[in-house]
Amino acid sequence: MLSRILKIVVTVAGMAFVAPPVLAQQAVKIGVIAEFSGPFADYGTQIVNGMKTYLKLHGETFGGRKVEIITRDTTGPAPEVAKRLAQELITRDNVDIIAGFGLTPNALAVAPISAEAKKPMVIMNAATSVITTRSPYIVRVSHTLPQDTQPIAQWASKNGIKRAYTLVSDYGPGIDSETQFVKSFKAAGGEVIDSVRTPLQNPDFAPYLQRIKDSKPDAVFVFLPPGSQTIAFIKGYEERGLKQAGVRLIATGDLTDDGVLQAMGEPTLGLITSFHYSAAHDSPENKLFVKTYAEVNGTKYRPNFMACAGYDGMAAIAEALKKTGGATDADKFLAALKGMKLMSPRGPITIDPETRDIVQTVYIREVKKVDGQLYNMEFDKFENVKDPGK
Ligand code: PHB
Repeated sequence: MLSRILKIVVTVAGMAFVAPPVLAQQAVKIGVIAEFSGPFADYGTQIVNGMKTYLKLHGETFGGRKVEIITRDTTGPAPEVAKRLAQELITRDNVDIIAGFGLTPNALAVAPISAEAKKPMVIMNAATSVITTRSPYIVRVSHTLPQDTQPIAQWASKNGIKRAYTLVSDYGPGIDSETQFVKSFKAAGGEVIDSVRTPLQNPDFAPYLQRIKDSKPDAVFVFLPPGSQTIAFIKGYEERGLKQAGVRLIATGDLTDDGVLQAMGEPTLGLITSFHYSAAHDSPENKLFVKTYAEVNGTKYRPNFMACAGYDGMAAIAEALKKTGGATDADKFLAALKGMKLMSPRGPITIDPETRDIVQTVYIREVKKVDGQLYNMEFDKFENVKDPGK
C-alpha cells in the first residue's frame, strides 16, 4: 500500500516536474496588423519581410520559446478594421504581442486595446509623435516625423534657403512634420510663406504645385506617405518646371523611399532629404541585412525603412524574450524593452525608457546614381536624436 502511495506521489511529482518545459515550448504568437493590400500594400510586406530577415539570421527561438508570426490585413487606412483585427487576434488567436502598423490611423485605433488588454504593442512604422502616449505598453522602433524633420529644417537654413513653402499629407504625420518644420526653420532664421495640406488618398497635386510655383519660394518642404503619391508628386514637380523656376525640393526621406526610388527615376537625382535609414548605409550590419533580405524575400523589393523597422522590432522582441526567459507578461516585457540598445542596420538605436520611443541617428542624404541604380547617399548626420515632438 505504502509503495502504491509512494508511486502515485512520484508520478504526480514527475508530472509537475515535466510541466514547465512543455509550457515553455509553446510558441510566442506575434499578431502583425498592417497594410497588405490596396495602395499601401508594400508597407505590410516590407515590415514582414524585415521580420523574416531577422529570423533567418538569428533563428526562431528566444528565451526558450519559438516565435510565430500571424499577419492580418487592414487593407489601407481603416481604423475600424484594425480595431476588429486586434480584438480577434487577442481573444480568438490568443496572441502574446501585437506589432506592425504602417499607417498612423490604424495604430491609434489599436492603442486603447493594447492598454485595456495589457498587450505589448510594437510599432514598426506609424510615425505620428503622440501614438506612444496612448498605451503604456507601446514601444516604437521606427521613427517620428518631428525627429526626421528637424535636421532638414536646420540644413535648409544653412544652405541658402530663406523662404519656404510646406506641403504635407493632411493627417497625423503630415501635421507633425509641418509643425516641426515651421518651428525649426523659423528658429534658424527662415520664413515659411505658406503651408498647404493635401488629402491622404488620391490627391491631385497640379493645382498645389502651380500655386507654389507662383509664390516663388526658395524651396518647398514636403511630407507624403511613400507610394503612388510620392511618384505623382515628383512627376508633377518635374512637369510643371518648379526646379527650372528656382524652387528647390526638400523633404523627409519618406519622399525618396528606397522602395519606390527607382520607379520615380531620374527627376529625383540631387534631392536632399533627412532620414534614419538608407539601403546604401555603409556598415557591416546593413550589408548583411540587405544581402539576407534578398535571400529571404527575393529581389522584387529593395529593403526600405519599414523593412529595417520590421527587422529591429523582431530584434527587440527577441532580446526582450531572452531577458524575461520567454515571459510575455506586459509589465515584465515592457521593463525588458525600456532602455534597450540595439545595433540596427541603420546604426545604433535606443528605446527611451521614459517615452518608449526610439532615439537614433538622422542622416542628411542626396539621391545619386550608383552602379546604374538610384540611392540615398548619406553625407552628414545628427546623432542621438530624440523625438522633439514630446
Ligand atoms: C504614418 O501613417 O504614420 C506614416 C506613413 C508613411 C510614412 C511615415 C508615416 O512614410
